Amino acid sequence: MTDIAALETEILAQIAGVADEAALEAVRVAALGKKGSVSEQLKLLGGMSPEERKSFGPAINGLKDKIGEALGARREALKEAALIERLKRETVDVTLPLRASPTNEGRIHPIAQVVDELTAIYADMGFAVAEGPDIETDYYNFTALNFPVGHPAREMHDTFFFSPKQDGSRLLLRTHTSPVQVRTMEALKPPIRVICPGRTYRCVSDQTHTPMFHQVEGLVIDKTSTIGTLKWVLEEFLKAFFEVPQVEMRFRPSFFPFTEPSYEVDIRCDRSGSEIKFGEGNDWLEILGCGMVHPNVLKFSGIDPNEYQGFAWGMGIDRIAMLKYGMNDLRAFFDADARWIRHYGFRPLDVPTLFGGVSG
Ligand code: DAH
Repeated sequence: MTDIAALETEILAQIAGVADEAALEAVRVAALGKKGSVSEQLKLLGGMSPEERKSFGPAINGLKDKIGEALGARREALKEAALIERLKRETVDVTLPLRASPTNEGRIHPIAQVVDELTAIYADMGFAVAEGPDIETDYYNFTALNFPVGHPAREMHDTFFFSPKQDGSRLLLRTHTSPVQVRTMEALKPPIRVICPGRTYRCVSDQTHTPMFHQVEGLVIDKTSTIGTLKWVLEEFLKAFFEVPQVEMRFRPSFFPFTEPSYEVDIRCDRSGSEIKFGEGNDWLEILGCGMVHPNVLKFSGIDPNEYQGFAWGMGIDRIAMLKYGMNDLRAFFDADARWIRHYGFRPLDVPTLFGGVSG
């Protein structure tokens, strides 16, 4: 017969010493399980004399109850401790700043921003957006635009040509967005009112030229449009784009094979300060080329020049982006430097609209 008091001390010490609920369960099984130390003692009761049972019975049953209580109390204490531990581990520091989300971090490239801006402005005037391929044929890039074969103007475009095909013809990277005029006139019936923003390519590179750059073409074909209409469209565009109440334009006679008459347009500006201001000052800045669409171009595109007329213009997007947002090196636009885009880029959710302000 074991010493009950010693057994009690031993088991209670074990209970007090466990570190978690699994260890506590092991102590319980070792004491109160089928073959546990306390259960073994209880089994002895059957073989005892009534006298012995009288004193041993209450003692061993008392021990069993005590251990049961001690187990219960310890289990509660362990649960509580585990909860406190977990709460400590899972605390949230509400004073930490929010981690930026991708929409917060990402930036819209100034070129994409300017394309969105000018699309919003022209869309408000009833223009649709037309597109054409970057890889063009000689026909669309030159011939259909009234550049005669062998004409020196072809040489002025520093064209990137692909290797000649079997038949000797060569594809090229379009040198301007003007071929989209022809493709649009082939596809649509007048009246036509489109802008064609896109990438263009020429073999040049310096501070204001990159081999890939962007232009936006405009085309209006109907029965009555004139240079007067063109002037109004350009003036409204420039005011809205540069966000100034007035602009003053100067039309200088020029030459493009696809327009007759042709002009280059300058706008009045002030370059005396650190930044350029439009609508005031004594300087002029060349901003685009334009003219009345040449009858030959209409003919090439399947439109009767005796019935229809219209105007077209072409403008460098990169250039107006630089002017509006104050960058001075075009090459940086295409360097993919994250610091540059973080500085000059636009927030993705600030979509340009005329009512909200085109530059956000
Ligand atoms: N395509 C010309 C260029 O690349 C720009 C241009 C001039 C476009 C006059 C036009 C235009 O539509 O009418 O320099």
